[in-house]
Amino acid sequence: MQRTLVKAALAAEGPSDALRVQGWIRTRRDAKGLSFLELNDGSCLKNLQVLLEEGSPAYADHERYTTGSAIDVTGRLVASQGKGQSWELLADSIELVGAADSSYPLQKKRHTLEYLREIAHLRPRSNLFGAVFRMRSRLSFAIHQFFNERSFLYVHTPIITASDCEGAGEMFRVTTLDGKETDSKKDFFGKPTFLTVSGQLEAEIFATSHSNVYTFGPTFRAENSHTSRHASEFWMIEPEMAFCDLEGDMDLAEAFVKHLVADALEHCAEDLEFLNQFVDKGLLERLQFVVERPFQRITYYDAVELLQKSGKDFQYAVEKGANLQSEHERYLTEEHFKSPVTVYNYPKTVKPFYMRQNDDDATVAAMDVLVPGIGEIVGGSQREERLERLDAAIRAHDLDPEDYWWYRDLRRYGSVPHAGFGLGFERMLMFITGVHNIRDVIPFARTPGNAEF
Ligand code: 4AD
Ligand code: MG
Repeated sequence: MQRTLVKAALAAEGPSDALRVQGWIRTRRDAKGLSFLELNDGSCLKNLQVLLEEGSPAYADHERYTTGSAIDVTGRLVASQGKGQSWELLADSIELVGAADSSYPLQKKRHTLEYLREIAHLRPRSNLFGAVFRMRSRLSFAIHQFFNERSFLYVHTPIITASDCEGAGEMFRVTTLDGKETDSKKDFFGKPTFLTVSGQLEAEIFATSHSNVYTFGPTFRAENSHTSRHASEFWMIEPEMAFCDLEGDMDLAEAFVKHLVADALEHCAEDLEFLNQFVDKGLLERLQFVVERPFQRITYYDAVELLQKSGKDFQYAVEKGANLQSEHERYLTEEHFKSPVTVYNYPKTVKPFYMRQNDDDATVAAMDVLVPGIGEIVGGSQREERLERLDAAIRAHDLDPEDYWWYRDLRRYGSVPHAGFGLGFERMLMFITGVHNIRDVIPFARTPGNAEF
């Protein structure tokens, strides 16, 4: 018999003929002549209650159906006598596919997130991580849908690269040399290579052939930041648009963030209800607000002035010309605007070489989208499309124009104004799920000192 997903069984419109479900037992409760199993197969948050009645072949072995075991059940859906579900499965027969003994680490009690991180191979079977990873999957789809509807081309940019897009020197080296050999000419690619920190530079190549493009892939940063918002391996979505300026870039970023929030509200309602109840009580209200209200926009200089006049006692002083610290970003979005806010036109000295210089000579056409609870989730800019200005910026950042010969060629042949941004997928997931630590929205977190699983 074909298998029915728990999700479909729970959504049934009436009692059924025989059907078959498979999954893992969350708990078993025994009563006189009866046994109740809570069965979950990951298709939805709710469990299917499976009823075993004395006398039926399904009941005979019921003591072997322990928490964590995998079973294959055939039975009929009947109206439930109990509260909390309309249907339950009256089991005719059960096969114990994979037993689990009492050492199974995910028992019914609530576990701490720290403990669950240590059992990342089992935590997807918990309610919280079941919900988070269903949402991660759904939102990956929504990302492709958003760009597909707008005729953006999906480009696969390389993971191994020789150029440091952000110029921050935070790259993981890729090498096949043993420790003693230092000549990179003898290395696999004949030169030093790294894991990419961003697909942007290659996305720009495709924007100058296919106009509107995006990448969605893993990126890697060897920054030694021990925060709840930094991972060494994270996924980034990077659209790039030809014939586009900073204004158009900010418009797209804001529409994109709203699209993902609206998609989650529409398609992940059950999981969001759960997260709202157990992780962050203000979650649903905040997401609704983000969908309904326009984002705020403010220039970097106005933001600095606002922060300096706030009277707030920051750990780091707000200095004109310096990067905004996370506490400053969070003050703007959480306390001042109480909504997402896009800060734009940053000083050129705090931003990478590729950003377009503004006429004031001091700032570049950069923008960051900040959201409550997290701070920066999007970083983007209009790109410098004028070759001389680009070369000057490359030199000002102590980089070698020779290394960027192909990037410079784009400015020599049919150069156009263009712009793009990067959305950190995990930060977006933190925002949409209310989960506070980036380690808990990625299946297997890589952070300094940790690459287990
Ligand atoms: O601001 P960033 O560094 O921008 C870029 O990489 C550009 N090349 C993007 C572009 O214009 N195409 O990173 C973009 C976003 C950040 O806003 C943040 O959400 C996320 O990537 N991010 C991280 N997420 C998790 N862990 C880290 N270590 C992150 N670093 C950046
Ligand atoms: Mg940034």
